[in-house]
Amino acid sequence: MKRIIYAAVGASLLLTACNSSQSTETPTLKEHFKNDFLVGAAVPVRHVNGLDPKADSIVTLHYNSIVAENCMKSESIHPQEGKYEWDDADTFVKYGEDRGIAIIGHCLVWHSQLSPWFPYDSEGKQVSAEVMKERLRDHIHTIVGRYKGRIHGWDVVNEAIEDDGSYRKTPFYEILGEEYIPLAFQYAHEADPDTELYLNDYSMSKPAKRETYKKIVTDLKNRGLRIDGIGMQSHSGMTHPDFAEYEKSIEEFGKLGVNVMITELDMSALPNVASGAGVEQNVDYEKTLNPYADGLPEEVAEEWNSRMSTLMELYKKHKDVISRVTWWGTYDGMSWLNDWPVKGRTDYALPFDRDYNMKPFLKKELAGE
Ligand code: GLA
Repeated sequence: MKRIIYAAVGASLLLTACNSSQSTETPTLKEHFKNDFLVGAAVPVRHVNGLDPKADSIVTLHYNSIVAENCMKSESIHPQEGKYEWDDADTFVKYGEDRGIAIIGHCLVWHSQLSPWFPYDSEGKQVSAEVMKERLRDHIHTIVGRYKGRIHGWDVVNEAIEDDGSYRKTPFYEILGEEYIPLAFQYAHEADPDTELYLNDYSMSKPAKRETYKKIVTDLKNRGLRIDGIGMQSHSGMTHPDFAEYEKSIEEFGKLGVNVMITELDMSALPNVASGAGVEQNVDYEKTLNPYADGLPEEVAEEWNSRMSTLMELYKKHKDVISRVTWWGTYDGMSWLNDWPVKGRTDYALPFDRDYNMKPFLKKELAGE
């Protein structure tokens, strides 16, 4: 599939970036990977509002793509029926436009961080299929329509499938059945025919999940609906994913004629007490679950960097089908993994450390080692 490579940023922004903690000598990631795939990060509202200038320097210097961490999720952007809150999403989109980079909208249909009113009527009962269709249509048309021509691609449906390959029993599924997925893609395409449209999920290395996504993509294509890519979130750890199964998913999704995107890459260095990456999980804090509060031991850091290098090699190997690699955040201090699934841990999941320094695996990558 065709890829758009975003060119360099405007001179004034580059200057801002160069005046920051990043040295002018540093080769940039977007330059390094320019013939391979887009590179990017999820950015929070405080970042685009200018409250994290060092993270801003990293994004401005190194990335040619951003995704909205939270501000486009339904509970934030559409908190009540008929009431949209645009300020943060507008700022996010403008931030990307000012830098001339690919802007990814995340996400239109998702059971988590869903506005509480969305599936219910005034008596608290689930709405009918007709009402749900109308609400979905309005939600998608209004949001995608507002940013028409400005968003590179949308995560249309997020986390629709369980790890065993069955459909997740979300309110969308309970009310509309499997049809809600094609409907969402149809509505998104109606609202902006030129934007790319994606499915996105975690644990994409699981064989049963892979098979169901292959069927969904094939079905969407058979119906003549637009589907440009599959997002493999890639929230990873020291023992997962199984790299062989993960690579198999990249290959098999690629064979479907859609782009594969690594959409939410991070790698926890801490004991894994979660099942998949469902955000609703909450595990009680225990000291043993937070072993590196005072710093990451060298041997663990080495292992972490080596696993990240393995992933980078895999992505380069499959650059013919991978169109984007996006980390879920910029630097360790801002990662959601510090508070999930256990609140108050100290994790080391992202490519820049708490002092905004680039980690060894990326330095090696940039040095061609
Ligand atoms: C999921 C979602 C993201 C984000 C992460 C964790 O992967 O797709 O929007 O919420 O969880 O922050």
